[in-house]
Amino acid sequence: MRNIFFVIPLLIFNISASDNNRGIIYQDNEIFAQQCDENDSLAYLRDQFLIPTNESGVPLIYLCGHSLGLQPKTTKKLMNDQLDVWAASGVEGHFQDNTYPWYPFHTFVRNQLAGIVGALSHEVVAMNSLTVNLHLMMVSFYNPTPTRYKVLMEAPVFSSDTYAIKSQIAIHGYDSNEALVIANNRPGEDCLRMEDIDALLDERGNEIALVLLSGVNYFTGQFIDMQRVANKAHEKGCIVGFDLAHAIGNVPLLLHDWKIDFAVWCSYKYLNSGPGAIGGVFVHEKHGRNHTLQRFAGWWGNDPATRFALHLQPEFVPVPSADAWQISNPSIFSCVPLLASVQIFDSVGMKALREKSLRLTGYLEYLLDAIKSDRISIITPRDWQARGCQISIRVNDRPEELMALLREAGIVCDFRKPNVLRITPVPLYNTFHDVWQFAQVLKMHLSSRVVLLD
Ligand SMILES: Cc1ncc(COP(=O)(O)O)c(C=O)c1O
Repeated sequence: MRNIFFVIPLLIFNISASDNNRGIIYQDNEIFAQQCDENDSLAYLRDQFLIPTNESGVPLIYLCGHSLGLQPKTTKKLMNDQLDVWAASGVEGHFQDNTYPWYPFHTFVRNQLAGIVGALSHEVVAMNSLTVNLHLMMVSFYNPTPTRYKVLMEAPVFSSDTYAIKSQIAIHGYDSNEALVIANNRPGEDCLRMEDIDALLDERGNEIALVLLSGVNYFTGQFIDMQRVANKAHEKGCIVGFDLAHAIGNVPLLLHDWKIDFAVWCSYKYLNSGPGAIGGVFVHEKHGRNHTLQRFAGWWGNDPATRFALHLQPEFVPVPSADAWQISNPSIFSCVPLLASVQIFDSVGMKALREKSLRLTGYLEYLLDAIKSDRISIITPRDWQARGCQISIRVNDRPEELMALLREAGIVCDFRKPNVLRITPVPLYNTFHDVWQFAQVLKMHLSSRVVLLD
């Protein structure tokens, strides 16, 4: 028989135990994964989420919380309740006839958000979406002068941040080719080194008006030492802001104590608040109380005591807190899913979630290492303190083909050009068995060989 190709899966059953860099012992076998789930004190949380299924109703192995988190089961009821209030009471729903009146709705998520990002309550507010918030923050906190007009950002960075930053630089009359300072990884490395960021700030900090980095990088999954950046940047006289799209609800944050000037986020990833959900900002109280800052103003940022004076009150009086950056009244129907989500976060706490997350992601790392294929390599930091849930895998050969095979096997993850798969076990709804199953499918496809039989 000539010219007939067979794909032969080469499965390697590895049952060895090993240490990761937290000293946890893992094993590459199904019983171990199942036992981890049985012993998991947070396992009950999975049942609070709707897990997508295939056509036969079998749950998919959803490892894509870095892109879109899953729907809490309580979301639909909370949403329906508000639709009912609107139907039954119309405008009265703003103030009465409602467990969660619309007028103060943003305050119902405030304390929980503050807990998640390590802020004082008046330093956070849910509003708009991430890129819009980035623009609003830059209006206030990017104040270039002829000697200090540069912005430090990292590479690779999500396109929207680049567009926002470049357009802000242009509005101030500067050329982004000259005004952008980029923190890069070293040749042959994938992630930033903190000492390189320090050195960059030591050398050029005096020219930099704003340091604007990602808490967790969308591509590599690297969680940078935000406090170290803030300390060094402040020492050099720069303002420090963070994009927390991939950090909020993922890694422990202490924005207030770290003296971060501002931060922005979206809520559709680890905060599980649905596609295009309402985003948010953190503004450190030292700025929140500063009435003299430039900002784009709107009635929702005005002192509530005079907000409804309307045309009788033409002078803007900013609320002395992050609330002053609100412009419009928020969409209640995009706030409701956030409320459902933060109630879950509040019930469990970031500390417990982080602890489980480290074990889950550590298990994923261990299983990936056990595959021992030169077709894949992990680009996310090996240091557990320098990453969150996500592990990014570089696929050296036919990455899109591999991605399609994973999808066919019921695994939901994503692919970022040119060759990176992002895999994210989320402690709220993923299991150790999910991680183990993913690794088996990956191992099978990586070990498949095309054999020509004579
Ligand atoms: C790191 C990062 N920045 C910005 C954005 C854009 O977010 P938005 O569409 O909410 O403005 C995203 C979206 O995924 C992101 O991951």
